[in-house]
Amino acid sequence: MKKVTINTLRKMKQAGERITMLTAYDASFARLLDRAGTDVLLVGDSLGMVVQGHDTTLPVTMDQMVYHCAAVKRGVQRAHLVVDMPFGSYQGTVDEAVKNAIRLVAEGGAESVKLEGGAEYSEVVQRIARAGVPVMGHIGLTPQSVHKLGGYVVQGRTEEKAQKLFADAQALEEAGCYALILEMMPSELSAEISRAVGIPVIGIGAGAGCDGQVLVIYDLLGMNPDFSPKFVKKYLDLGVLIRDAVARYNDEVKHGTFPGPEHSFSAEKEAGKSAPVLQLYSSVK
Ligand code: KIV
Repeated sequence: MKKVTINTLRKMKQAGERITMLTAYDASFARLLDRAGTDVLLVGDSLGMVVQGHDTTLPVTMDQMVYHCAAVKRGVQRAHLVVDMPFGSYQGTVDEAVKNAIRLVAEGGAESVKLEGGAEYSEVVQRIARAGVPVMGHIGLTPQSVHKLGGYVVQGRTEEKAQKLFADAQALEEAGCYALILEMMPSELSAEISRAVGIPVIGIGAGAGCDGQVLVIYDLLGMNPDFSPKFVKKYLDLGVLIRDAVARYNDEVKHGTFPGPEHSFSAEKEAGKSAPVLQLYSSVK
């Protein structure tokens, strides 16, 4: 098993090998996704929505990102581990941004950080990268700017906006980003950006012309039956499966059919096992 690094990702782009990326928020999921061969795991601030139940990613804090990143880290062996810098952790001073990026690596165990925004973040990217922390850029629909963008809507549909996104991608590569996320933009534009830059470009709602794809794991698994955006393919209906399994459990407990004898312990000594519990208690007394 060879660890995926930022060099691996660059070589994959050069070889035309597609990159797979998924979000993870805890060790159990991270272990499963890592063992399934996912190249990159992202501790996304989408956890604010799918784990914490907020309407946006905006309330997520640095402490929470460090906590979830450290949990994911314990489940990862092969995948590259990148963590989102949460809202407010890099939009202030550059020094603050560098300090927060370092904390996500030192305390959270991340191997790189991701931040949202275009050319206006060039200096932040440069300074974080200079501190030894690789930076993944994220442009297009940037959920931390949801209020500025007027909602979760497709970006870059006019010539002027497409030009701006194209220039942002080039500026972020120049500033030192090792990879780029393109979220919710026309496929033609993302394909053009992917061809124009030398760094791996990973899309979400950005069509098939990118160097890789990322999805929120809860969306891929169909955890929320009420959430079905166009760009998500549900590989499972896990929300329905979980609801049905839990309904069966509730029913069996209510009717006394769970636990059955096969799930229960007996006072009889089982072959090869230690002394029965009751006997043990009476010998202690
Ligand atoms: O927070 C997140 O999960 C993300 C991905 C959707 C790219 O930024």
